[in-house]
Amino acid sequence: MKIGVPRETCAGETRVASTPEVVKKLVKTGFQVLVEAGAGIASHYPDEQYREAGAEIVDRAAAFAVDILLKVRKPDAAEVAAMQAGGIYLGYVETCGEDEIIGALVKKDIRVMAVERIPRISRAQSMDALSSQSNIAGYRAVIEAAAHYGRFMPMMMTSAGSAKPARLVVLGAGVAGLQAIATARRLGCDVYGYDVRPETKEQIQSLGAKAIELDIGESGSGTGGYAKELSDEAKARQQAALADELAKAHIIISTALIPCRPAPILITPEVVGRMRPGSVIVDLAAANGGNCPLTEKDQVVEKQGVILVGHTNFPALVPADASAFYARNLSNLLDIMVDKSPDGPVLKDLDQDEITQAMRVGV
Ligand SMILES: NC(=O)c1ccc[n+]([C@@H]2O[C@H](COP(=O)([O-])OP(=O)(O)OC[C@H]3O[C@@H](n4cnc5c(N)ncnc54)[C@H](O)[C@@H]3O)[C@@H](O)[C@H]2O)c1
Repeated sequence: MKIGVPRETCAGETRVASTPEVVKKLVKTGFQVLVEAGAGIASHYPDEQYREAGAEIVDRAAAFAVDILLKVRKPDAAEVAAMQAGGIYLGYVETCGEDEIIGALVKKDIRVMAVERIPRISRAQSMDALSSQSNIAGYRAVIEAAAHYGRFMPMMMTSAGSAKPARLVVLGAGVAGLQAIATARRLGCDVYGYDVRPETKEQIQSLGAKAIELDIGESGSGTGGYAKELSDEAKARQQAALADELAKAHIIISTALIPCRPAPILITPEVVGRMRPGSVIVDLAAANGGNCPLTEKDQVVEKQGVILVGHTNFPALVPADASAFYARNLSNLLDIMVDKSPDGPVLKDLDQDEITQAMRVGV
């Protein structure tokens, strides 16, 4: 059975869907692994390392003409055209419903398996690419904030007096938010966390941060551990109640998201205007509209004296580790997709496993 690992061509994407470490394991399982020349260059994995791991280095067309295609980013029309009919696509699909690309894949009888749809259950934890990449995003967002902040993050004693620690607020305490809290604590910031799901209070506190608690008149807990969209009245109450806390912050890392909905607006322009000049907002929700309406997607801008960072692909800024974790997630998925046999791996019935069944798109 052939597995293909092409080079990602989406603008700004530096990750690759498999690494030499994982290729070695796949080859041992009996897969024939075809890696496009240069696929790992941007994430610091040269062709030679893949070759040593047992991969064949091939041209772009050969990397797509495979039984199972491993990708990071959603394929474009040309990539769909290059894919083998009847094969499997394993990667991000970056859409909530269906669109032309998904339609074209289904038309070619390609089974589309979306990593975004891996259920958040214990058995799927080692396959959960959303979590591994969100963890990296949360870490990298704080590093980004430190780079733009014109002051020290920790308390600092110098010959010329001392600096106070940065007051850093994390909005949304999911995977990215909790990692941002942990990273900011390690850098010595005075950290506060807020989430609309009340059950996050203990998680925020367990990392040594202070939990911001608001009475907004309704719970934001939805199904499956995710948040639900608030009523218009609760949204207004939440913005008003958060305003003073956010105006006092020197750095805000905002990660609040609701699956398949626009990101909630938590930081109003009025609040930005009240922040100290040189404060930094890293808006991890930028791809979904942002938690602050002043954020500009994929840009770093200064508005009302505050620096707003709107990068939409933080994992791509940590390419070697982001690829390593993603590749391991996919490898753990492949483990449940095939049976091993002396003649090589044999595909299982993917509709029989709750994980692979949940990942299917376009059926
Ligand atoms: N295997 C597992 O069991 C597993 C693995 C990973 C995550 N999870 C759980 O999945 C859930 C989703 O995590 P995620 O990181 O993907 O979340 P996410 O990226 O969908 O959202 C980020 C955070 O934003 C919060 N949020 C949404 N609207 C908000 C608002 N108006 N104000 C403040 N905060 C708001 C959400 O509650 C969430 O914590 C969490 O409960 C997490 O613990 C479980």
